[in-house]
Amino acid sequence: MSRTVYVNGDYLPEADAKVSIFDRGFLMADGVYEVTSVLDGKLIDFEGHAVRLARSLAELEMASPIGDDDLAGMFRELVRLNRIEQGMIYLQITRGNPGDRSFVFPDASVPSTIVAFTQDVPNLAEPPVAKVGFKVITIPDLRWDRVDIKTTQLLYPSMGKMLARKAGCDDSWFVADGAVTEGTSNNAYIVKGNRIITRQLGSDILHGITRAAVLRFAAEAQFEVEERAFTVAEAQAADEAFSTAASIFVMPVVEIDGKTVGTGKPGPVAVRLREIYLEEMRKTAI
Ligand code: PDD
Repeated sequence: MSRTVYVNGDYLPEADAKVSIFDRGFLMADGVYEVTSVLDGKLIDFEGHAVRLARSLAELEMASPIGDDDLAGMFRELVRLNRIEQGMIYLQITRGNPGDRSFVFPDASVPSTIVAFTQDVPNLAEPPVAKVGFKVITIPDLRWDRVDIKTTQLLYPSMGKMLARKAGCDDSWFVADGAVTEGTSNNAYIVKGNRIITRQLGSDILHGITRAAVLRFAAEAQFEVEERAFTVAEAQAADEAFSTAASIFVMPVVEIDGKTVGTGKPGPVAVRLREIYLEEMRKTAI
């Protein structure tokens, strides 16, 4: 079934949705994005995504083309029009179409481009892989130094995903200076006893919206939370490992570079945090 998508204020059949070849998102990856999950036809953690979107835009000196209330309304309209029960909404805002290619930013009179579309994922909350967990490989983190800005420069993460696929795995974790930064499109964690360890916030990881909620729920559930760098060897020797993102919620990680983590099955902490996350976030979905 053809989707109805959103382009610069209009709701259109996907085949009719067009963006210029001069758009800076297309030519320069000069754009930011957000992925918001949908459960029971409702938006999960909309506010978190709206706040991070505003920060990404501000860091790139890009004006926001839409207010939070209108953004929420637009997301909900896309969910309604496309009858999404479980899935995701992809939003992208670029610096727009200056009518030619130039390294210089266009002046502020050039309107930004805003597009959004839904992705229908009927088993988003219960994908089969969550029962067995991810196998990951580690690769050098060759991204730029501002991955805290959620830009559309996703070539290297995409290559990381393909390297994982070629190795018969599900994802890659990036490593910088001997320590894990994050996954291709998720934040990375290990568990030792009652302690959950994940890299501290900085410009070298995306400040995950799922991460913030999961750490809050973990603390409420009496887990200790330690925000610090960890090595691949430490991760391989941990009791458990997991990744978080709006697209996977809390995903157990059972193998790292061919080494089994813990029992090789999704660990109780990751499974519990996944349950808590889904339960709590469903309560506050809008
Ligand atoms: N990715 N780290 C990176 C590099 C990411 O791309 C993402 C999200 C995360 C987790 O952020 P959040 O919890 O806010 O989803 C961490 C999205 C889902 C994507 O690119 O599809």
